[in-house]
Order: sequence, then structure tokens, then C-alpha cells
Amino acid sequence: MSKRKLRLAVLISGTGRSLKNLINHISTGALTAEIAIVISSTPSAVGLQYAEEESIPIEIIERHNYPTLPAFSEPIFQACREKYVDYVVLAGYLKLLEIPPDFHNKVLNIHPSLIPAFCGKGYYGNIVHSKALEMGVKISGCTVHFVDEHYDNGPIILQKAVDVIEGDTPNVLNDRVFDAECIAYPEALELLAEGRVTVQGRIVKIAPPKDSKINEIDF
Ligand code: GRF
Repeated sequence: MSKRKLRLAVLISGTGRSLKNLINHISTGALTAEIAIVISSTPSAVGLQYAEEESIPIEIIERHNYPTLPAFSEPIFQACREKYVDYVVLAGYLKLLEIPPDFHNKVLNIHPSLIPAFCGKGYYGNIVHSKALEMGVKISGCTVHFVDEHYDNGPIILQKAVDVIEGDTPNVLNDRVFDAECIAYPEALELLAEGRVTVQGRIVKIAPPKDSKINEIDF
């Protein structure tokens, strides 16, 4: 299992904090990847500035310009093919996509809860955290998963939990979960770069690191 540099497409719709976090991890060498293209669902996405600063190619592909979901999804994945992208990373991307067969288990998302809690259509931004607080959960967190044709539904790659603390507001919980996201997303991508991820149905298996002694121990 040798490590390889991943070519990523990052899809955004908003502030691009996750995009910026990935750029930072790549620049320190913590994430073995390069961002080949940033695709935004709107020209007003603030996060586009981070792509511009890094001279990353940008495409704007807006849902309202296409009559159907397949017609909208096609140019997005075609742009990814043209850039020889290994994985498509949804980073605050708010549109549903139809994933073509050649991108099956090649599209990742991060969701700000521990799936299957507080997820699905309509669960985005602070709504997720408001619902978690209303339910009185004692932990929340984030989930990195492969994307399928349903919202927040595909095979789970990794999850990180955070405590919910008495007095939390949605904003405060959002900040704590986002700190966990900033670790989880690059970590999941690095597992892919290390070739340690296999998917069997909806179960994701993570192989031990290459230098791990775990298989050599006699119990
Ligand atoms: C995060 O809450 C993440 O879980 C969700 O989008 C938010 C980040 O958006 N998928 P952005 O990167 O700030 O645009």
C-alpha cells in the first residue's frame, strides 16, 4: 500500500471554510493531495476567494441553468473527468447530485452530526445543531461519508464525537463540531491517499497503517 497524491475536486456553495481547511492541510503536507478544480453552485460563494488565492481552476455550475438533475450533474462530473480527479469532495455544497457509475464511492461529504442522527433533507447549517439541542443529546459530532443518491446516506468512512455542554447554543455547538470537522475531513482523505479504505456494501473498512504492528501481535 503506497501513498499516492490524490487529485481532488472540491464543490462549494458558501463560505468555503472546509475548502480553506483542506488547502491548509495540503500546504503543511498533512494531506497528500492537490485540488485540481473548485466547482461552485453559485458565483456568490464567498469560498471562491480561497481558490483564487491559490490559483486553483474554478467552474460555476448553477442548478437553475439545467432542466433536470442528470443534466445538471453531467457537466460537473465531466469537468472532474477532464481534470483526472480521483475524489470529489463536497464542502458545504448544498445541491443534490446524480452520481455517475464511474464516480461510485468517489464522492465524499461531511455532515455536522453523527449520522444517522439529525441528517437528511433539510438538515443543514445550524438547523442540525438546533435539533440536536432540542433532543437533549449529550454528544454530537461529524460524519465523513461516501455520497449516494440520498441526502447524508452513503457508507460512513469516519466519525468524530464532541460533547454537548449545558448552555450550548446552536452557534457554540456548530463551532465545536466544526473544529472536529477540520480534523476529520483531511484524516478521511489521507486514509484514501494511503490506500487503506475498502467498501463492502455500506460498510467501510479501514486497514491498519502500513507500519502497524497490530497483525504481528500474538494474543
Ligand atoms: C459544515 O458545517 C459542514 O458540515 C457542511 O458545510 C459546513 C461548512 O461549509 N457540510 P463551508 O465550508 O463553511 O462553506
